Amino acid sequence: MSRIYAIITQKGGVGKTTTVNALASAFSKQGFKVLAVDMDPQGNLSFSTGADSNLPTVFDALTGAARVQRCIQSMPMTDVIPSNILLTGAELEFTGKYREFILKNILQVVENDYDYIFIDSPPGLGFLTVNALAASDYVILPMLPDIFSLQGLVQVYETIQYVQKACNPELEVAGILINKYRRFSKLHREAVGTAQMVAENFDIPIFDTFIRNSAALAEAQSLQCSIYEYAPRAAGVRDYMKLSQEILNSN
Ligand SMILES: Nc1ncnc2c1ncn2[C@@H]1O[C@H](COP(=O)(O)OP(=O)(O)OP(=O)(O)O)[C@@H](O)[C@H]1O
Ligand SMILES: [Mg+2]
Repeated sequence: MSRIYAIITQKGGVGKTTTVNALASAFSKQGFKVLAVDMDPQGNLSFSTGADSNLPTVFDALTGAARVQRCIQSMPMTDVIPSNILLTGAELEFTGKYREFILKNILQVVENDYDYIFIDSPPGLGFLTVNALAASDYVILPMLPDIFSLQGLVQVYETIQYVQKACNPELEVAGILINKYRRFSKLHREAVGTAQMVAENFDIPIFDTFIRNSAALAEAQSLQCSIYEYAPRAAGVRDYMKLSQEILNSN
């Protein structure tokens, strides 16, 4: 049986796509069968994994234009369902009663083929993100150690509660993931302290593993190669491997 993780936050540029890419690679490297699903019309995950967004995408699977199996591409670091800008039309396309469950329905067809499925989502808490949450067992919330990310946590928490009530009572918060962390920054240490208080208040965990700021992560993605091939010893790359162990131990 697969474990499905949605990586969400309404804030842009905090590391959602990087986390999906890195965790998919980390679990693949450890011998697990992994699928990464790009639910962001920006298609950043599709690009960084080297998937071809001109072939059938997640939008085709959602609309039923293509069977979901036909939308899966086997890339060196992971299997991928890519996306492209057409996915922006999904919200207008689906207006029916069970619109939150469209992704869940298509993943059900293939989930037994995988140990882990990671879903990348766009910034925001709209239709695509709600579909990702409705399809998932767990949610990971990446955040930067700054005040704007902290402010966003309240809205994210409310969205998760809505989804738990309305469409997925089994959904669990795996944890808040502190990204781009600089240990020697007083500001970062203070923001993490505040995040810990907020998380305790909401009764949601923070991963013990923090992801350090690491240029190699951005470089590997722009070169479309696995972070473990590109710079296995870089701080951020080791942190993601450690995070995969933390997730494995909690399963
Ligand atoms: N730990 C890190 N160290 C250095 N750079 C990072 C780190 N994490 C992410 N980045 C870089 O920061 C940028 C934003 O990250 P990413 O694209 O993963 O964010 P996102 O939350 O998916 O953004 P969006 O909301 O636009 O989808 C990218 O260029 C990425 O390579
Ligand atoms: Mg992204």
